[in-house]
Amino acid sequence: MAGAARVVLLGPPGAGKGTQAKLLQEEFGAVQISTGDILRRAVAEQTPLGKAAAEFINRGALVPDGLIVNLVAERLKEKDCEKGFILDGFPRTIPQAESLDEILNRMGLNLNSVLSVQVPQKIIVERLAGRRTCRKCGALCHVIFNPPKQTGVCDRCGGELYQRADDQELTIANRLQVYENQTAPLVDYYRQRGLLRAIDGVGEIAQIRARVIAALGALVP
Ligand code: AP5
Ligand code: MG
Repeated sequence: MAGAARVVLLGPPGAGKGTQAKLLQEEFGAVQISTGDILRRAVAEQTPLGKAAAEFINRGALVPDGLIVNLVAERLKEKDCEKGFILDGFPRTIPQAESLDEILNRMGLNLNSVLSVQVPQKIIVERLAGRRTCRKCGALCHVIFNPPKQTGVCDRCGGELYQRADDQELTIANRLQVYENQTAPLVDYYRQRGLLRAIDGVGEIAQIRARVIAALGALVP
């Protein structure tokens, strides 16, 4: 377990965290933990967590820390995390980052690195407006930048591609504001701890993948 990747992907909505996390899973054999994906599944299945979270997600607000932290603490205890993990969309607030430190401390682990993926707002809006997600396998694509072979059908599994409810113009604006107010302070939090690496998130998906792997190369065994 000491040699495993333990990475946080930080960045605004649409920065490409999910896209890169999936590629990193393959590269490092680590598991992607996306709190957004976990919450959307809970909403679809109408679990108690899903019912509590839906209202926050739909208006682009953060779900309360208390709901998220326990969920991540439990997820990190699962066997597959021993191969390493890529946290995508967590932590999102300073209290979440402090809780993550405590959780990892208790487990005798630490983070290898925190990658801050940077993309200007204009590009973010284009990416989110055209994003499509597979209902079945969670694969991500984009109607212009990374189009599926057949409209509405996932290349990987043939599942139905859908547009996320929070990818509407007004909700996107709200999510960007929430990022600036509540999540951006984590850049300094991790810089002060010597963990932060900035990644230019503009360019082809493959180029950014290469930048991410180069940044992690020396840090992840
Ligand atoms: P979450 O699901 O985490 O959403 P997000 O942070 O807003 O980020 P996105 O998933 O929208 O963007 P991404 O960076 O993953 O980009 P992607 O790779 O898809 O959270 C959703 C909600 O859940 C939150 O608003 C909140 O309510 C709740 N939540 C989740 N975690 C929480 C937490 N910890 N605490 C509290 N609440 C929480 O890429 C976007 C698009 O661009 C895709 O179409 C992709 O194909 C395309 N693309 C990617 N890279 C490129 C590229 N290089 N060039 C061109 N196109 C690209
Ligand atoms: Mg995502």
